[in-house]
Amino acid sequence: MTSTPDLAVLVKEALRAFAAATTMEELKAAKVAHVGENSPVALANRGIADLPKEDRKTAGQAIGQARGEIAIAYRSRESEHEAQELEARLLAERVDVTLPVTRRPQGALHPVTTMFNDLCDVFVAMGWEVMEGPEAEAEWLNFDALNFTPDHPSRFMSDTLFVDPPEHHLVMRTHTSPVQMRTLLTHDLPVYIVVPGKTYRADEYDATHLPVFHQLEGLAVDKGLSMADLKGTLDHLAKAMFGDQARTRLRPHYFPFTEPSAEIDIDCFVCHGQSVGNPDQPCRTCKSEGWIEWGGCGVVNPKVLQAAGIDVEIYSGFAFGMGVDRTVMFRHGASDLRDFAEGDVRFSRQMAGGVR
Ligand code: PHE
Repeated sequence: MTSTPDLAVLVKEALRAFAAATTMEELKAAKVAHVGENSPVALANRGIADLPKEDRKTAGQAIGQARGEIAIAYRSRESEHEAQELEARLLAERVDVTLPVTRRPQGALHPVTTMFNDLCDVFVAMGWEVMEGPEAEAEWLNFDALNFTPDHPSRFMSDTLFVDPPEHHLVMRTHTSPVQMRTLLTHDLPVYIVVPGKTYRADEYDATHLPVFHQLEGLAVDKGLSMADLKGTLDHLAKAMFGDQARTRLRPHYFPFTEPSAEIDIDCFVCHGQSVGNPDQPCRTCKSEGWIEWGGCGVVNPKVLQAAGIDVEIYSGFAFGMGVDRTVMFRHGASDLRDFAEGDVRFSRQMAGGVR
């Protein structure tokens, strides 16, 4: 057999098939048919061995030439397809940089969280420890252990949220003070702790009251602690939070778990006392008193220490608790407590961007 006359036809068929392939898949299929192992040119190439010796050279050259032409045709068609595919992809992936973007709205830490962090930082820097306790608390720890009598008015249902059923004596803690006793019962002395946390009271929801609010509790029990240490600690805290000009004042008060007890006032952040005795410049924030109530404090009642098995001849302590929502109001001038609970991120963002 001599395949030479067929070669021109084979080449033509291959070129036609490559040209007709409109997709890369079709082109690949045409390649298998016209270049592959069982394609006519490949078969012709293998047939060379069967030819008479003197014909092999010419046949080999002719077949080689035909295969070369087919291969070149294939490669050029292949690069055409590649260029087309690239162009189609670039078109599909084109980005219009002038289109408006959809931005993910950015959140912000709640101002109470930020305030807790800042308050705790002041104490951690002095070597105090941060403690936490449960919000649903044993009535005993919330009241009895803190020397509240069984008929103390704040136990009554109208102030305290009891968890059903009432005979389980579980309350939503009305202050962070139960963590005082929890700590004294589990820690070795001396104790220096602060307790950030949520507290609950059956209060109206209005501009100045929230049924869920936040306190920062502090407790120090060591040898020889007194009211002077308490005052020094509170002054340091006030200055760290509100600047060097900040002042605190203690007013005698009563708490069952401290003796003596006091309420802590901080000087008015709006008028700084300018409104006192000055009817021309009244201050709504402090009602022209020059001071705003910040929290409660006192020397730990020995009865509380004794209930925790502590020798009151050796150890004494002081404790304080402040309203953290109020602290945010002082520092940022927020005026309505309901903003704290409504969860509008604009409030958090505005507070986060405020005075720091
Ligand atoms: N627990 C008190 C309250 O909620 C505040 C307080 C804490 C007072 C510690 C004295 C000592 O009002």
